[in-house]
Amino acid sequence: MTAKYLFILLSPLLLATGCSKDEAEPPPGDPAKGKALIRDYGCGSCHAIPGIPGADGRTGPSLERIARRVYLAGVLPNTPSDMMRWIRAPEAIDPRTAMPNMGVSESDAHDITAYLYTLK
Ligand code: HEC
Repeated sequence: MTAKYLFILLSPLLLATGCSKDEAEPPPGDPAKGKALIRDYGCGSCHAIPGIPGADGRTGPSLERIARRVYLAGVLPNTPSDMMRWIRAPEAIDPRTAMPNMGVSESDAHDITAYLYTLK
């Protein structure tokens, strides 16, 4: 019984430390290039993405305020390196995901990640 109450008291604290850790790790890459790349790759056909004209897809989740998310796709901690892994090969992380491998290069993934982390 005490353990349960302790958990309830501590869980907001755990979530808060999860968020501040992400902000301490600055994403590499160029957000302006990333913005153009997101358009070129067509991420907006499946995602609503603030700042990207025409990006209003509903197949995937909205990427609004993605920088503040604790988990990516419900399975990965939201860090720049895991964000890049997800963007480059989502099926390697979750074989059943509906997000396809878009053939994103490593340097493009850096720039896309930099843009996504401006969405706070
Ligand atoms: C064919 C549709 C489709 C396309 C195109 C697509 N995605 Fe996704 N994406 C998804 C789906 C569906 C999910 C949810 C995955 C899951 O939870 O398993 C997702 C999840 C994500 C997530 C995690 C979101 C969250 O709420 O945790 C990010 C970040 C992401 N996609 C970025 C991108 C980027 C960047 C591109 C372009 C390079 C892209 N996606 C292209 C369908 C797509």
